[in-house]
Amino acid sequence: MLRHIPELPPEDIFPVDPWKIEQLGFEEHYIAQEESIFTVANGYLGLRGSFEEGRPVEHDETFVNGFYETWPIVYGETAYGFAKTGQTIVNVSNAKIIKIYVDDEPFVLGQVELRSFRRALNMKDGTLDREVVWETASGKRVRVESRRLVSFRHRHLAAIDCRITLLDDSAPVVVSSEIFTELGGVAGEGSGEDDPRKAKKFQGQVLEPRLHEARGRRVALAYRTRRSGLGLACGIDHLVEVDGPVHESIVLGGPLRESIRAEETAGRFDFRGEARAGQTIRVVKLLSYHTGEGADDRELMTRVHWSLDRGLEQGFEGLLRDQVECMDDFWRRSDIRVQGNHPRAQQCVRFNLFHLLQASGRADQHGIPAKGLTGQAYEGHYFWDGEIYIQPFLTYTAPRIARRQLENRHRMLDKARDRAREVNQRGALYPWRTINGEEASAYYAAGTAQYHINADIAYALRRYVQATGDTRFLHDHGAEILAETARLWLDLGFYQDRGDGRFHIHGVTGPDEYTAVVNDNLYTNLMARENLRYAAEVFSTIRLERPVHFERLAARLGLEPEEVERWRDAAEAMYVPYDERLGIHPQDGDFLRKKVWDLPNTPRSHFPLMLSYHPLVLYRHQVIKQADVVLAMFLLGDDFTAEQKKRNFDYYEKLTTGDSSLSACIQAIIAYEVGDDHSALKYMRAATLMDLADVGGNVRDGIHVASAGGTWMSIVFGIAGFRDHGGRFRFRPRLPDGWDRLSFRLTIRGSVLEVDLLPDTATYRLIEGDPLTVEHELEPLTLAPGAPVRRPITSTVVAAASLAKNEPDPARSEESEL
Ligand code: BGC
Repeated sequence: MLRHIPELPPEDIFPVDPWKIEQLGFEEHYIAQEESIFTVANGYLGLRGSFEEGRPVEHDETFVNGFYETWPIVYGETAYGFAKTGQTIVNVSNAKIIKIYVDDEPFVLGQVELRSFRRALNMKDGTLDREVVWETASGKRVRVESRRLVSFRHRHLAAIDCRITLLDDSAPVVVSSEIFTELGGVAGEGSGEDDPRKAKKFQGQVLEPRLHEARGRRVALAYRTRRSGLGLACGIDHLVEVDGPVHESIVLGGPLRESIRAEETAGRFDFRGEARAGQTIRVVKLLSYHTGEGADDRELMTRVHWSLDRGLEQGFEGLLRDQVECMDDFWRRSDIRVQGNHPRAQQCVRFNLFHLLQASGRADQHGIPAKGLTGQAYEGHYFWDGEIYIQPFLTYTAPRIARRQLENRHRMLDKARDRAREVNQRGALYPWRTINGEEASAYYAAGTAQYHINADIAYALRRYVQATGDTRFLHDHGAEILAETARLWLDLGFYQDRGDGRFHIHGVTGPDEYTAVVNDNLYTNLMARENLRYAAEVFSTIRLERPVHFERLAARLGLEPEEVERWRDAAEAMYVPYDERLGIHPQDGDFLRKKVWDLPNTPRSHFPLMLSYHPLVLYRHQVIKQADVVLAMFLLGDDFTAEQKKRNFDYYEKLTTGDSSLSACIQAIIAYEVGDDHSALKYMRAATLMDLADVGGNVRDGIHVASAGGTWMSIVFGIAGFRDHGGRFRFRPRLPDGWDRLSFRLTIRGSVLEVDLLPDTATYRLIEGDPLTVEHELEPLTLAPGAPVRRPITSTVVAAASLAKNEPDPARSEESEL
């Protein structure tokens, strides 16, 4: 159920532009939301979109992925196996401050007279641009322009190009470029005890100052977290230029008076002089951050110096050139072009893609936090969001990054093994939420109990391997993940000897967090079945094709002779809840026996329900936070008939609050598949506008990265009807009414495929790489270079039904290739 259709601000505030999110006026009321929206980040380093002046501000935060502090989780009543240590991403030194004073008057938005203001997230170039004209108390107009980037090429570097021009009169100007560290690791107030989604406020000091240096125009500082013992070094350096009419080219009307200083928690480079009318003062500020577990403070400082040296050598122009190159490459691989549906559609879709890049591009050996690097909410933790909502996009547009993410999960395997032991299980249990690989969820019912994380990782692995053909990775790393996760399922589940003899999994929580600790959650059982099957299949293949490697693996894993067979048997015996009377799949064994929550009569102010009702109240009702059965129908579509999909969708639609931002995109995909276009488009709109229209009312806390990935999915898997089950790449496209064209590219097995859809035809074009076979409405098409294949779009919703059953579609036409 979608409670309301989100609307965007009007065009005079937020104009239509396919490549920009532009703001045409300054409104103090929205700064918190805009700080999230205007964040620039590269997956390693993130600068929230607060102003260079440092005020007005809500959360002036800077994050480095994987840089966290730990804290003891204190339970009123503890129990065996509860997670003991919390982890929270730290707000690191704020290096982007540039304060400007003209006539000794500070430039502070909201306090000065503004003649004009525009700020834009420039998604084409990967920069945040701003141009402001203010009028000082004595009537002098000053133009302040800035361009900010966090480099995709040089992940430790960010830069700000700031230009100050006195438009009609000379005046004394002071520029103070600062770096400031909040030793408490949190920016401002607002860490919420009342909202579990927000980050925890640390008790006491988090960062311990270690080194500080100032020389030339450079300041560098080093810190170490008190408990987690992680090192951080950061620094700033500057290039200053002054230009203007040739006869006035003397620097600021005389020698530039500069000063530099550093203390434990702050550093500052400032300069002052008399600026002349028409003269532009330019400060290029370089920012660098390095973090590391093993490295000592001195080494981290040295790395900062190297990065800053490189930044100085390249200058802003060089860094911008690199950035534009990276962005061009990104858009070439990942863009989605939409035409005709809504004037803002293109812009809003790209906004989601852009934030996906910002969350993942240079995450490298770190995971992807639920909010990317745009906010401290969800503590900077990595959840299943990565595997189920973001990995599809990465797998099909940036497989190298997708692989990095899987490597990270492989690196966590030992900790997952330890965690399984802690919760009395064999194999490995991945943490529900984590930064360092250890379980950080303090609420086991909606945390540790989400065992499905194991199967989500195995699913992402399978998708990656099928899409890339990277069997080397599968055999060398993936196989171990599969074996240990399969072991967990085999140990966790059991054959119900006195019942139906099937394999059951009890005491787990599925994706829907409004229903907890249940028996036989459908999603979990089906995904575990897939996990077990895939593990058995991969080990059988390795045994056959690489016997020596198999022996090595078996020895390393202590694989018992019959173990692989036991995985297969459990998969085949897996219990799948089904209600014959209603013809639907219950979300779990008891779900249908619960009372139905009266959603239509629940006051709007009570949403999200988790902030108004005790969990037990939610747990004893049929009420759903997010797609659960519906998600299973998307991920494992071939396990359901078309009729079941329709009935399940209709049943759960009425119970789903969408209180999680992970829901709308999935509901959109299935609604479209079952032919409920109206609902599909509403859900798609909600997913696409999740942040731009602040659908959940909490964009101030950060961008919903999973929903951004879901936006990509709702177009590619929804509208274009793409499915990859069993390693076949099938399309069943159907443009909704009013859409004129949709096109996008996918990278499959190293080849780049372009899918171009018009209302009545689909064109498949191989852009680069070896020939590739895909299916259009079940017809196999072999695509070769320079030979695009065009097919009429004939699929109806009934045809979608036959796809689900894997039957040939009689309506398919036999058009010839172009
Ligand atoms: C959702 C989870 C999700 C988490 C982080 C929660 O509200 O219920 O499924 O993993 O947010 O995005």
